[in-house]
Order: sequence, then structure tokens, then C-alpha cells
Amino acid sequence: MYVQAKARDMLSRRKPGHSLEQGFYTDPEIFALDMENIWYRDWLFATPAAAMPKGGSYVTHKVGPYRVIIVKGQDGEIRAFHNTCRHRGSILCKADKGNVAKLVCPYHQWTYELDGRLLWARDMGPDFDAAAHGLKPVHCRTVSGLVYICLAEDAPDFDAFAATVAPYLDVHDLGNAKVAHQSTIVENGNWKLVWENNRECYHCAGNHPSLCRTYPEDPTITGVAKDGTFPPKVEAHFQRLEAGGAPSRFQMAEDGQYRIARMPLLDGAESYTLNGKIAVQKRLGRVPFLDAGTLLKFHYPTTWNHFLSDHSITFRVTPLSPTETEVQTTWLVNKDAVEGVDYDLENLKTVWEHTNDEDRRVVEDNQQGINSPAYVPGPYSETHEDGVLQFVDWYCTTLGNRIDPVRLAAE
Ligand code: FES
Ligand SMILES: [Fe+2]
Repeated sequence: MYVQAKARDMLSRRKPGHSLEQGFYTDPEIFALDMENIWYRDWLFATPAAAMPKGGSYVTHKVGPYRVIIVKGQDGEIRAFHNTCRHRGSILCKADKGNVAKLVCPYHQWTYELDGRLLWARDMGPDFDAAAHGLKPVHCRTVSGLVYICLAEDAPDFDAFAATVAPYLDVHDLGNAKVAHQSTIVENGNWKLVWENNRECYHCAGNHPSLCRTYPEDPTITGVAKDGTFPPKVEAHFQRLEAGGAPSRFQMAEDGQYRIARMPLLDGAESYTLNGKIAVQKRLGRVPFLDAGTLLKFHYPTTWNHFLSDHSITFRVTPLSPTETEVQTTWLVNKDAVEGVDYDLENLKTVWEHTNDEDRRVVEDNQQGINSPAYVPGPYSETHEDGVLQFVDWYCTTLGNRIDPVRLAAE
């Protein structure tokens, strides 16, 4: 059976309000379809701009077989290029990150400017056209200190998303951030299980003792406000923050790809620490109150985030195989904050380090159970798992729309 037809069949027999059938989480052909139709076509969060503090700073990223260099020019502009030399294709930058004056290929030392132009190639003869051999660009946009890339030839619109989220993000001043810590873990589960787990807090009380000290498992905070209304407490929180100059009200893309809202933490809690107090005395951003809650942003398929009154945390999801997903977490603090003086690193990272590891375990357990021939899709809790359903609906609609009927007929 051809893979598109197989996927259509699987989508058409989807049971409403239930988890997906096994193949969506295990089948290498469905994984390839996900990569081709979602990951190689959509905007992907790649890195906080703060990971590239000066001209020549770069980070590398890998999505499926695509390798990408994201580099800050001496002009301050952040650009992305395919990490493959225009001579015979060698990878240019092997490290995860670094700092260079120029991009020099390790094979025959072709040398590229930070804007991708080929500057030097030895003994290529009088007819060689250097201008025709610049690095291949990757679409790259930065919104309020968050760098997104798109691997498609023609990128989908980014402006509507940027215009929606920028006012919320600007008060967090990510342009004045530095990376305090970064962790990269691999979860042995399908990327959709990582997301499904992220989109509910039904599992929080039983799995996240340190997060639950500050983060409410209340589904009106983690969910998607199906009828567009919030309890009076959340409404009051929106009003207090907006009056103080921090946009907060819930907004979601029409197609459900992204959501942004500033939500309260538990009463009295300021930040994700074990004692609930801020972790960084020299704060990042201009949020008017310490107990401003957390600005929650997700953007499928790559990122969820928490922007707090003292620091910010970005999360990046990258599928590695049908049953392996990388999750990179970056803790951002004010660039002038000094470790050991303004913040204690252990205190800053401990809640989310624990939480990530707890989430890794539940995702891996979920994958193991789904691998069993006895697995059948089970029902979501309407109270606690509307966010999961929202993600799965987005996924099924997006994949379904993109499985090209013309190609299907040709096969
Ligand atoms: S492959 Fe890069 S210089 Fe030859
Ligand atoms: Fe969790």
C-alpha cells in the first residue's frame, strides 16, 4: 500500500476524541510522511538569538538529513544556510556552536563570508564564477529574539505569527538575554507523544512534584479555552497584567498552529523554583510584577516556551526517528546577571531539569505501551486533555491537507 493512501485510510478511521492508532507513533513510512509534509515545510523554532551573542557566533541544527548553520553577521543580522559546501558538498561547521571570522570548509578551505558569499576558492581557474557558488540560504526570521527557520523552497507566511506574538514577547526583552544553561536530551518516543504529553497537565500531579510547587494543574490554564472564556481569577490576572503594560490575553491561530497567553502560577509563586521565588535578582524583561505568571507560547511542531518575570525558558523539539525525539531546553537570563551573584544556576534550572526528565520517562513509557499489539486508541479526558485533542486535530488536519491528491492519483 502506498504511504499516502495508507495515511489517508488511517486518518479516515480515526476515532473522535481518542488517541491515534499505533502506526502514527511507530511506522517509519508515516514518520517519513510527517517529516516531508510538516517538518520540511513549516517554520521551525531553531534557537534563541541570545545563543549568538556577537558577529561570527553560530549554532548548527539538524532536521532529518538537513544540516543548517545559523550565523550572526558582523552587521548583527542573523542568517541561516545549508551546512553543505558548494564545492563538493562537505559539511562546513561540525560543532554545535562556535565563533568564526569566516566560514571555512575543512575539506579544501573554500571560504565564505558570514552572509554566505564565496570569498575564496584556490586554483579554480579564470572562468570560475564565485558569485554563483555562495552558500544556499535557508529561510530565517527572528521575532523578539527567537530565531525560526524554514527548509521549504517557498516558506509559508510568518508575518501573522510574528505580529501576534511580538507584543507579548517584547516586554521579556530577549535581545538583552544570555544563555545561562542549555540541556539536550533524547526521549525514546515519537515526536507527537512528546507534544501530547506537553499539552496536558493531567499527568502533572502524579509525575512533577517540583513543578507542581508553582505550576497549577488547573485545565483552564493548560487547556485551550474551548468556549473562549476563562474563570474570573484568570480574567483578573489578564486585566492586572495588561493594565501594567504586559499583553496577556489568550490568542490562538485560526488553524491552531500557535497559541499565546500569560497565565497565572499558583498564588504567591513568582518563578519555577523550589521555593517559588524568582531565581534571578537582575531580572530579564520589564514585566510589571514578580508574580506575573508565565507567558505560555507554543508553535507546532517545534516549540513551547515559558517567559517569566525574572527569566525565560525555550524548548525545541526535533524528531530523530519514529521513536526518538530530541528536546533542547535553554534558560535565558539578563545578559548582565552574574552567576553566583544574581542567580544560583542549580536553583535556576532544577525544576525544569527534573520536569524534563519526568516527562522523558512518561513519554518513553507511553511509547513502550503503544508498541504492544494490544494497544488500541483510548479516550481523552474532556476536562483535562482538550489541549491534546487540539494538537492531534492540528496534526491530522495539517497532514491530511498536505497529502497531495494529485500525487496520490499518480501512484
Ligand atoms: S568540499 Fe568544501 S572546499 Fe571542497
Ligand atoms: Fe509534564
